[in-house]
Amino acid sequence: MTKKIRKAVFPVAGLGTRFLPATKAVPKEMLTVVDRPVIQHVVDEARAAGIEHFIFVTGRNKHVIEDHFDMQYELDHTLSQRGKKREQEILASILPKAGTASFTRQQAPLGLGHAVWCARDIVGDEPFALLLPDMLHKGETPCLKEMIEAHAAHGGNHIAVAPVPEEETHQYGIVGVKDRAAKVSEITMMVEKPKQGTAPSNLHITGRYILQPSIFALLATQEKGAGNEIQLTDAMVTLAKSEKFHAVRFDGEIYDTGSKLGFLTANMAYALSDSSLKDAFRAEAKKLLG
Ligand code: UTP
Repeated sequence: MTKKIRKAVFPVAGLGTRFLPATKAVPKEMLTVVDRPVIQHVVDEARAAGIEHFIFVTGRNKHVIEDHFDMQYELDHTLSQRGKKREQEILASILPKAGTASFTRQQAPLGLGHAVWCARDIVGDEPFALLLPDMLHKGETPCLKEMIEAHAAHGGNHIAVAPVPEEETHQYGIVGVKDRAAKVSEITMMVEKPKQGTAPSNLHITGRYILQPSIFALLATQEKGAGNEIQLTDAMVTLAKSEKFHAVRFDGEIYDTGSKLGFLTANMAYALSDSSLKDAFRAEAKKLLG
């Protein structure tokens, strides 16, 4: 029997240099897509997938993320006095139940692999989900829910993937799979940013993972890789020698909100599917586009 996925890790300690100066004092995870910070979209996805414990790997200047998921008594009191019940309910729905959110610090941004390793004691000896908060996955079914179902069926490790144009594969982590047409398929190889013309497929790693706790021992001894950072992909390549990895194809839309273009496009896409906003927004967008 596979163990239930109860915990999710959100690495939010990166510097967000692609989005300066916006991210000088505000974490990129707190930039808003329509009416909520990017990190909340991703926490909502995890919650919808049945995650019970939310683990944030934070860094300097990221305390506002912790505040976002905490009770704000003064605000709640003021809303209550003004009879703003709906707003109170919205805030209450964000709040994790007592004891179900943990925060640990990555003292220096040494890479995604290192950030994940910082969560090892809180995760403990059980498989866990990992969600990169800047990658928004918008689809009918939450991406992580599909992955948890795949994990229940196959066990082992899982990586969400989606196709990219062949000529762009050198910009991504790419996986080779046994069956390109299948929704869930065994991974045959993984490579970070393959040289042009050498990629095993056009399926890129999108930022959602289910990993076995055995990854932590590998991350502990992982040498620095690309960008002089401790790379998660390098540790996964080693783990794949002894454990199974499956790719779970995500069929929705993916937005990289860590890039300006991805962030702006995400705002448009989410606004166009917000029932209270879409008609007015479409009219404004039409005026702008001429
Ligand atoms: P990115 O490489 O996209 O984030 O890492 P970054 O380094 O903040 O962004 P740029 O490239 O400088 O603009 C993916 C995720 O991993 C986290 C980031 O916060 C982001 O959510 N991360 C990355 C860490 O938590 N620690 C790190 O050392 C590196």
